[in-house]
Amino acid sequence: MNQYCISRKLFERAARVIPCGIYGHTSPVFTVPGRFPYYAVAARGCRYQDPDGNWYLDFLCGYGAVLLGYGYPQVEEAAARQREKGNCMNHPAPIMVELAEKLLEVTRFGSWVVFAKNGSDVTTWAIAVARLTTGRRKVLKVAGAYHGVGAWCNPTGYGFLPEERSHVHDFRWNDLDSFRKLVEEYHGDVAAVVLCPFHHPSYGRCILPDPGFFPTVRKICRREGIVLVLDDIRAGFRLHRGGSHQWLGIEPDILCLGKALGNGYPISVAIGREELRVAASRVFLTGTYWNNAVAMAAALEMLKILEQEPVVEHVQEVGRRFCQGLRELAWRYGFDLQCSGPPSMPFATFSGDDSFFLQQEFCARVAAQGVFLHPHHNWFMSYAHRDLDIAEAFDKIEIALRQLREGLVKR
Ligand SMILES: Cc1ncc(COP(=O)(O)O)c(C=O)c1O
Repeated sequence: MNQYCISRKLFERAARVIPCGIYGHTSPVFTVPGRFPYYAVAARGCRYQDPDGNWYLDFLCGYGAVLLGYGYPQVEEAAARQREKGNCMNHPAPIMVELAEKLLEVTRFGSWVVFAKNGSDVTTWAIAVARLTTGRRKVLKVAGAYHGVGAWCNPTGYGFLPEERSHVHDFRWNDLDSFRKLVEEYHGDVAAVVLCPFHHPSYGRCILPDPGFFPTVRKICRREGIVLVLDDIRAGFRLHRGGSHQWLGIEPDILCLGKALGNGYPISVAIGREELRVAASRVFLTGTYWNNAVAMAAALEMLKILEQEPVVEHVQEVGRRFCQGLRELAWRYGFDLQCSGPPSMPFATFSGDDSFFLQQEFCARVAAQGVFLHPHHNWFMSYAHRDLDIAEAFDKIEIALRQLREGLVKR
Protein backbone atom coordinates (compact mmCIF):
# COMPACT_ATOMS: atom_id res chain seq x y z
CA MET A 1 0.00 0.00 0.00
CA ASN A 2 1.22 3.49 -0.80
CA GLN A 3 2.58 5.35 2.19
CA TYR A 4 0.23 8.27 1.44
CA CYS A 5 -2.92 6.36 0.49
CA ILE A 6 -5.38 8.10 2.85
CA SER A 7 -3.67 11.45 2.36
CA ARG A 8 -4.02 11.22 -1.42
CA LYS A 9 -7.72 10.39 -1.17
CA LEU A 10 -8.16 13.39 1.10
CA PHE A 11 -6.26 15.51 -1.36
CA GLU A 12 -8.49 14.34 -4.22
CA ARG A 13 -11.53 15.40 -2.19
CA ALA A 14 -9.84 18.68 -1.37
CA ALA A 15 -9.10 19.39 -5.03
CA ARG A 16 -12.88 19.41 -5.69
CA VAL A 17 -13.70 21.99 -3.02
CA ILE A 18 -10.50 23.98 -2.46
CA PRO A 19 -8.50 25.70 -5.24
CA CYS A 20 -5.48 23.48 -5.92
CA GLY A 21 -6.51 21.21 -3.01
CA ILE A 22 -3.75 22.71 -0.91
CA TYR A 23 -2.48 26.12 -1.99
CA GLY A 24 0.25 28.52 -0.99
CA HIS A 25 3.50 27.47 0.60
CA THR A 26 2.16 24.10 1.78
CA SER A 27 1.09 23.08 -1.72
CA PRO A 28 2.49 19.68 -2.77
CA VAL A 29 3.98 21.31 -5.88
CA PHE A 30 6.66 22.81 -3.67
CA THR A 31 7.88 19.37 -2.66
CA VAL A 32 7.29 16.48 -5.07
CA PRO A 33 3.61 15.55 -5.40
CA GLY A 34 2.97 12.01 -4.19
CA ARG A 35 6.33 11.62 -2.49
CA PHE A 36 5.83 13.78 0.60
CA PRO A 37 3.16 14.03 3.29
CA TYR A 38 0.20 16.28 2.41
CA TYR A 39 -1.56 16.72 5.75
CA ALA A 40 -0.79 16.56 9.44
CA VAL A 41 -3.16 15.23 12.07
CA ALA A 42 -1.10 15.61 15.23
CA ALA A 43 2.22 17.05 16.37
CA ARG A 44 4.34 16.80 19.52
CA GLY A 45 7.89 17.89 20.25
CA CYS A 46 9.83 17.60 17.00
CA ARG A 47 7.50 15.04 15.41
CA TYR A 48 4.20 15.00 13.58
CA GLN A 49 1.83 12.41 12.18
CA ASP A 50 0.04 12.32 8.82
CA PRO A 51 -3.47 10.87 8.23
CA ASP A 52 -1.92 7.56 7.12
CA GLY A 53 -0.44 7.10 10.57
CA ASN A 54 3.14 7.85 9.52
CA TRP A 55 5.22 9.81 11.99
CA TYR A 56 7.92 12.22 10.85
CA LEU A 57 10.89 13.58 12.65
CA ASP A 58 10.42 17.15 11.56
CA PHE A 59 13.02 19.65 10.40
CA LEU A 60 10.60 22.27 9.10
CA CYS A 61 8.79 23.12 12.37
CA GLY A 62 5.71 24.71 10.81
CA TYR A 63 7.94 26.71 8.43
CA GLY A 64 9.81 28.10 11.41
CA ALA A 65 6.80 28.97 13.57
CA VAL A 66 7.55 26.28 16.12
CA LEU A 67 10.76 27.08 17.96
CA LEU A 68 10.31 25.30 21.29
CA GLY A 69 8.68 22.22 19.81
CA TYR A 70 5.04 21.36 19.05
CA GLY A 71 2.77 21.59 22.09
CA TYR A 72 5.45 23.01 24.41
CA PRO A 73 3.76 22.60 27.83
CA GLN A 74 4.52 26.03 29.36
CA VAL A 75 3.26 27.84 26.27
CA GLU A 76 0.17 25.65 26.04
CA GLU A 77 -0.60 26.24 29.73
CA ALA A 78 -0.25 30.01 29.35
CA ALA A 79 -2.51 29.90 26.28
CA ALA A 80 -5.05 27.73 28.14
CA ARG A 81 -5.10 30.09 31.14
CA GLN A 82 -5.84 33.02 28.85
CA ARG A 83 -8.45 31.01 26.90
CA GLU A 84 -10.28 30.41 30.18
CA LYS A 85 -10.43 34.17 30.75
CA GLY A 86 -11.28 35.15 27.16
CA ASN A 87 -9.77 35.32 23.71
CA CYS A 88 -11.74 37.25 21.08
CA MET A 89 -13.45 40.07 22.98
CA ASN A 90 -14.67 43.60 22.27
CA HIS A 91 -11.45 45.07 23.58
CA PRO A 92 -7.83 44.07 23.82
CA ALA A 93 -6.90 42.16 26.96
CA PRO A 94 -4.45 43.66 29.46
CA ILE A 95 -1.89 41.07 28.38
CA MET A 96 -1.37 43.12 25.21
CA VAL A 97 0.28 45.85 27.27
CA GLU A 98 2.44 43.39 29.16
CA LEU A 99 3.55 41.80 25.89
CA ALA A 100 4.36 45.17 24.30
CA GLU A 101 6.49 46.10 27.31
CA LYS A 102 8.28 42.75 27.21
CA LEU A 103 8.96 43.05 23.47
CA LEU A 104 10.49 46.51 23.90
CA GLU A 105 12.60 45.23 26.80
CA VAL A 106 14.06 42.29 24.87
CA THR A 107 14.49 43.96 21.47
CA ARG A 108 16.12 47.04 23.06
CA PHE A 109 15.79 49.67 20.37
CA GLY A 110 12.19 50.81 19.82
CA SER A 111 9.53 52.69 21.70
CA TRP A 112 6.27 51.20 20.41
CA VAL A 113 4.76 47.89 19.25
CA VAL A 114 1.76 47.01 17.07
CA PHE A 115 0.18 43.59 16.72
CA ALA A 116 -1.15 41.57 13.80
CA LYS A 117 -1.33 37.93 12.80
CA ASN A 118 0.95 37.21 9.84
CA GLY A 119 4.28 38.41 8.62
CA SER A 120 2.72 39.94 5.51
CA ASP A 121 0.45 42.11 7.66
CA VAL A 122 3.34 43.86 9.33
CA THR A 123 5.84 44.06 6.46
CA THR A 124 3.16 45.70 4.30
CA TRP A 125 2.07 48.02 7.10
CA ALA A 126 5.72 48.95 7.82
CA ILE A 127 6.28 50.32 4.33
CA ALA A 128 3.08 52.37 4.59
CA VAL A 129 4.41 53.86 7.83
CA ALA A 130 7.74 54.59 6.13
CA ARG A 131 5.96 56.29 3.23
CA LEU A 132 3.77 58.39 5.50
CA THR A 133 6.70 59.43 7.68
CA THR A 134 8.97 60.40 4.81
CA GLY A 135 6.41 61.59 2.27
CA ARG A 136 8.32 59.49 -0.29
CA ARG A 137 7.28 56.66 -2.60
CA LYS A 138 10.14 54.24 -3.26
CA VAL A 139 10.81 50.97 -1.48
CA LEU A 140 14.11 49.17 -2.02
CA LYS A 141 14.40 45.44 -1.43
CA VAL A 142 16.74 42.62 -2.34
CA ALA A 143 16.08 40.67 -5.55
CA GLY A 144 14.73 37.22 -4.67
CA ALA A 145 13.83 38.12 -1.09
CA TYR A 146 10.41 37.10 0.21
CA HIS A 147 8.46 39.52 2.38
CA GLY A 148 4.97 38.04 2.12
CA VAL A 149 1.95 38.33 -0.14
CA GLY A 150 1.29 42.08 -0.12
CA ALA A 151 0.69 43.73 -3.51
CA TRP A 152 4.12 45.40 -3.32
CA CYS A 153 6.03 42.11 -2.95
CA ASN A 154 3.76 39.21 -3.94
CA PRO A 155 6.10 36.67 -5.55
CA THR A 156 3.89 35.71 -8.49
CA GLY A 157 2.19 39.05 -8.97
CA TYR A 158 -0.90 37.27 -10.38
CA GLY A 159 -4.00 39.32 -9.76
CA PHE A 160 -2.09 42.49 -8.98
CA LEU A 161 -1.48 45.51 -11.17
CA PRO A 162 2.07 46.32 -12.25
CA GLU A 163 1.40 49.83 -10.89
CA GLU A 164 1.13 48.38 -7.40
CA ARG A 165 4.83 47.60 -7.44
CA SER A 166 6.01 50.35 -9.74
CA HIS A 167 7.74 52.06 -6.81
CA VAL A 168 9.45 48.90 -5.56
CA HIS A 169 13.02 48.39 -6.78
CA ASP A 170 15.43 45.52 -6.32
CA PHE A 171 19.11 45.58 -5.55
CA ARG A 172 21.46 42.64 -5.03
CA TRP A 173 22.22 41.12 -1.64
CA ASN A 174 25.61 42.16 -0.24
CA ASP A 175 26.12 44.44 -3.26
CA LEU A 176 26.49 47.92 -1.81
CA ASP A 177 27.14 49.44 -5.23
CA SER A 178 23.79 48.26 -6.54
CA PHE A 179 22.17 49.64 -3.37
CA ARG A 180 23.94 53.02 -3.65
CA LYS A 181 22.97 53.22 -7.32
CA LEU A 182 19.25 53.01 -6.47
CA VAL A 183 19.59 55.49 -3.62
CA GLU A 184 21.24 57.94 -6.03
CA GLU A 185 18.83 57.28 -8.88
CA TYR A 186 15.79 57.92 -6.65
CA HIS A 187 17.46 60.46 -4.45
CA GLY A 188 14.96 62.13 -2.14
CA ASP A 189 12.20 59.68 -3.02
CA VAL A 190 13.26 56.53 -1.14
CA ALA A 191 10.95 55.86 1.81
CA ALA A 192 12.20 52.45 2.98
CA VAL A 193 14.74 49.72 2.58
CA VAL A 194 13.46 46.28 3.56
CA LEU A 195 16.02 43.61 4.42
CA CYS A 196 16.08 40.17 6.01
CA PRO A 197 18.98 39.43 8.39
CA PHE A 198 20.42 37.02 5.84
CA HIS A 199 19.49 36.19 2.27
CA HIS A 200 17.31 33.10 1.85
CA PRO A 201 16.07 33.14 -1.73
CA SER A 202 13.63 30.48 -2.87
CA TYR A 203 15.45 27.58 -4.52
CA GLY A 204 18.83 29.05 -3.67
CA ARG A 205 21.64 28.82 -1.18
CA CYS A 206 21.42 31.10 1.82
CA ILE A 207 23.95 33.92 1.96
CA LEU A 208 25.04 35.56 5.19
CA PRO A 209 25.65 39.32 5.23
CA ASP A 210 29.19 40.52 4.51
CA PRO A 211 30.61 42.26 7.57
CA GLY A 212 30.23 45.76 6.11
CA PHE A 213 26.83 45.29 4.48
CA PHE A 214 24.39 46.14 7.27
CA PRO A 215 26.50 48.86 8.93
CA THR A 216 26.85 50.63 5.57
CA VAL A 217 23.17 50.31 4.68
CA ARG A 218 22.35 51.58 8.17
CA LYS A 219 24.66 54.59 7.72
CA ILE A 220 23.28 55.48 4.29
CA CYS A 221 19.67 55.17 5.51
CA ARG A 222 20.39 57.50 8.41
CA ARG A 223 22.13 60.02 6.16
CA GLU A 224 19.37 59.95 3.54
CA GLY A 225 16.40 59.80 5.93
CA ILE A 226 15.37 56.34 4.69
CA VAL A 227 13.47 54.00 7.02
CA LEU A 228 15.32 50.72 7.53
CA VAL A 229 12.86 47.86 7.97
CA LEU A 230 14.31 44.58 9.20
CA ASP A 231 12.08 41.69 8.16
CA ASP A 232 12.86 39.20 10.92
CA ILE A 233 9.74 37.11 10.33
CA ARG A 234 11.60 33.97 9.36
CA ALA A 235 14.86 34.27 11.29
CA GLY A 236 13.49 35.88 14.46
CA PHE A 237 14.57 34.13 17.69
CA ARG A 238 16.78 31.58 15.94
CA LEU A 239 19.76 33.94 15.73
CA HIS A 240 19.34 36.01 18.90
CA ARG A 241 16.76 35.88 21.65
CA GLY A 242 16.11 39.61 21.35
CA GLY A 243 15.72 39.79 17.57
CA SER A 244 18.22 39.40 14.74
CA HIS A 245 19.28 43.08 14.73
CA GLN A 246 21.24 42.21 17.88
CA TRP A 247 22.92 39.34 16.02
CA LEU A 248 23.73 41.81 13.22
CA GLY A 249 24.85 44.55 15.61
CA ILE A 250 22.61 47.25 14.12
CA GLU A 251 19.42 49.07 15.08
CA PRO A 252 16.60 49.02 12.53
CA ASP A 253 13.89 51.68 12.41
CA ILE A 254 11.16 49.05 12.24
CA LEU A 255 11.56 45.39 13.18
CA CYS A 256 8.98 42.87 11.94
CA LEU A 257 8.62 39.66 13.92
CA GLY A 258 6.16 36.78 13.55
CA LYS A 259 6.40 33.00 13.14
CA ALA A 260 8.44 31.78 16.15
CA LEU A 261 7.12 34.58 18.38
CA GLY A 262 3.97 32.60 19.21
CA ASN A 263 5.48 29.11 18.98
CA GLY A 264 2.65 28.19 16.62
CA TYR A 265 0.02 30.67 17.83
CA PRO A 266 -0.83 33.32 15.23
CA ILE A 267 0.84 36.59 16.09
CA SER A 268 3.12 39.07 14.38
CA VAL A 269 4.40 42.43 15.51
CA ALA A 270 6.11 45.55 14.22
CA ILE A 271 8.35 47.37 16.65
CA GLY A 272 9.50 50.87 15.84
CA ARG A 273 11.47 53.91 16.81
CA GLU A 274 9.99 57.00 18.37
CA GLU A 275 10.37 59.09 15.16
CA LEU A 276 7.82 56.83 13.46
CA ARG A 277 5.20 56.90 16.19
CA VAL A 278 3.00 59.56 14.57
CA ALA A 279 2.77 57.67 11.28
CA ALA A 280 2.34 54.40 13.19
CA SER A 281 -0.72 55.85 14.86
CA ARG A 282 -2.16 57.08 11.55
CA VAL A 283 -1.71 54.15 9.15
CA PHE A 284 -4.86 52.20 9.89
CA LEU A 285 -4.00 48.74 11.13
CA THR A 286 -6.53 46.24 12.32
CA GLY A 287 -8.16 42.86 11.85
CA THR A 288 -11.05 41.12 13.56
CA TYR A 289 -8.78 38.67 15.34
CA TRP A 290 -5.66 40.77 15.73
CA ASN A 291 -6.34 41.59 19.38
CA ASN A 292 -6.97 37.98 20.35
CA ALA A 293 -5.46 37.39 23.73
CA VAL A 294 -4.52 33.70 23.54
CA ALA A 295 -1.76 34.21 20.98
CA MET A 296 -0.48 37.13 23.03
CA ALA A 297 -0.31 34.96 26.14
CA ALA A 298 1.59 32.33 24.15
CA ALA A 299 4.02 34.95 22.85
CA LEU A 300 4.62 36.42 26.29
CA GLU A 301 5.36 32.97 27.69
CA MET A 302 7.65 32.26 24.76
CA LEU A 303 9.68 35.40 25.50
CA LYS A 304 9.95 34.43 29.17
CA ILE A 305 11.16 30.96 28.23
CA LEU A 306 13.79 32.50 25.96
CA GLU A 307 15.11 34.36 29.00
CA GLN A 308 15.19 31.25 31.17
CA GLU A 309 16.36 28.56 28.78
CA PRO A 310 19.28 28.40 26.32
CA VAL A 311 16.94 28.03 23.35
CA VAL A 312 18.94 30.03 20.80
CA GLU A 313 22.21 28.40 21.83
CA HIS A 314 20.54 25.00 21.55
CA VAL A 315 19.09 25.48 18.07
CA GLN A 316 22.43 26.80 16.84
CA GLU A 317 24.39 23.95 18.35
CA VAL A 318 22.00 21.19 17.31
CA GLY A 319 21.92 22.70 13.81
CA ARG A 320 25.72 22.74 13.65
CA ARG A 321 25.85 19.07 14.64
CA PHE A 322 23.08 18.16 12.24
CA CYS A 323 24.73 19.91 9.29
CA GLN A 324 28.15 18.48 10.02
CA GLY A 325 26.85 14.95 10.59
CA LEU A 326 24.76 15.13 7.44
CA ARG A 327 27.69 16.30 5.40
CA GLU A 328 29.90 13.47 6.69
CA LEU A 329 27.17 10.90 6.12
CA ALA A 330 26.53 12.10 2.57
CA TRP A 331 30.24 12.11 1.84
CA ARG A 332 30.47 8.45 2.91
CA TYR A 333 28.03 7.64 0.11
CA GLY A 334 29.87 9.78 -2.41
CA PHE A 335 27.69 12.90 -2.25
CA ASP A 336 28.97 16.40 -1.66
CA LEU A 337 26.19 17.96 0.42
CA GLN A 338 26.68 21.49 1.71
CA CYS A 339 24.61 23.46 4.18
CA SER A 340 24.40 27.22 3.80
CA GLY A 341 22.98 29.87 6.12
CA PRO A 342 22.95 29.90 9.91
CA PRO A 343 23.01 26.35 11.37
CA SER A 344 19.74 26.96 13.25
CA MET A 345 18.00 27.30 9.87
CA PRO A 346 20.22 25.75 7.21
CA PHE A 347 19.60 25.22 3.52
CA ALA A 348 21.17 22.08 2.04
CA THR A 349 22.32 21.57 -1.54
CA PHE A 350 24.18 18.83 -3.36
CA SER A 351 27.03 20.24 -5.41
CA GLY A 352 26.32 20.12 -9.13
CA ASP A 353 22.60 19.62 -8.52
CA ASP A 354 21.37 22.90 -10.00
CA SER A 355 18.07 21.32 -11.08
CA PHE A 356 17.40 20.12 -7.49
CA PHE A 357 16.48 16.67 -8.89
CA LEU A 358 18.96 14.91 -6.61
CA GLN A 359 17.82 16.97 -3.65
CA GLN A 360 14.18 16.09 -4.37
CA GLU A 361 14.96 12.41 -4.68
CA PHE A 362 17.02 12.50 -1.50
CA CYS A 363 14.34 14.29 0.52
CA ALA A 364 11.57 12.05 -0.87
CA ARG A 365 13.50 8.94 0.19
CA VAL A 366 14.19 10.51 3.58
CA ALA A 367 10.45 11.21 3.96
CA ALA A 368 9.72 7.56 3.18
CA GLN A 369 11.93 6.70 6.19
CA GLY A 370 10.01 9.10 8.45
CA VAL A 371 12.13 12.24 8.46
CA PHE A 372 10.83 15.46 6.95
CA LEU A 373 13.45 17.53 5.14
CA HIS A 374 12.04 20.08 2.71
CA PRO A 375 13.76 19.84 -0.68
CA HIS A 376 13.56 23.55 -1.59
CA HIS A 377 13.19 25.50 1.61
CA ASN A 378 15.58 26.14 4.45
CA TRP A 379 15.10 23.82 7.42
CA PHE A 380 14.46 24.87 11.01
CA MET A 381 15.86 23.50 14.23
CA SER A 382 13.84 23.54 17.44
CA TYR A 383 14.47 23.27 21.16
CA ALA A 384 12.78 19.87 21.00
CA HIS A 385 15.49 18.37 18.77
CA ARG A 386 17.67 16.36 21.14
CA ASP A 387 20.68 14.10 20.65
CA LEU A 388 18.54 10.98 20.37
CA ASP A 389 16.37 12.57 17.69
CA ILE A 390 19.41 13.58 15.68
CA ALA A 391 20.91 10.09 16.00
CA GLU A 392 17.61 8.56 14.85
CA ALA A 393 17.42 11.01 11.96
CA PHE A 394 20.95 10.06 10.87
CA ASP A 395 20.09 6.33 10.92
CA LYS A 396 17.08 6.96 8.68
CA ILE A 397 18.86 9.40 6.42
CA GLU A 398 21.65 6.87 5.96
CA ILE A 399 19.15 4.34 4.58
CA ALA A 400 17.96 6.95 2.09
CA LEU A 401 21.51 7.82 1.07
CA ARG A 402 22.35 4.16 0.53
CA GLN A 403 19.27 3.70 -1.65
CA LEU A 404 20.13 6.82 -3.56
CA ARG A 405 23.68 5.66 -4.23
CA GLU A 406 22.52 2.16 -5.25
CA GLY A 407 19.86 3.67 -7.53
CA LEU A 408 22.45 5.84 -9.24
CA VAL A 409 24.88 2.93 -9.66
CA LYS A 410 22.18 0.72 -11.23
CA ARG A 411 21.20 3.37 -13.81
C1 LIG B 1 11.17 36.74 5.53
C2 LIG B 1 9.69 36.62 5.52
N1 LIG B 1 8.95 37.71 5.53
C3 LIG B 1 7.61 37.66 5.55
C4 LIG B 1 6.97 36.45 5.51
C5 LIG B 1 5.47 36.39 5.47
O1 LIG B 1 5.01 35.89 6.66
P1 LIG B 1 3.56 35.24 6.75
O2 LIG B 1 3.59 33.99 5.94
O3 LIG B 1 3.36 34.98 8.21
O4 LIG B 1 2.60 36.26 6.21
C6 LIG B 1 7.70 35.26 5.49
C7 LIG B 1 7.05 33.95 5.45
O5 LIG B 1 7.65 32.94 5.24
C8 LIG B 1 9.11 35.36 5.48
O6 LIG B 1 9.87 34.25 5.46
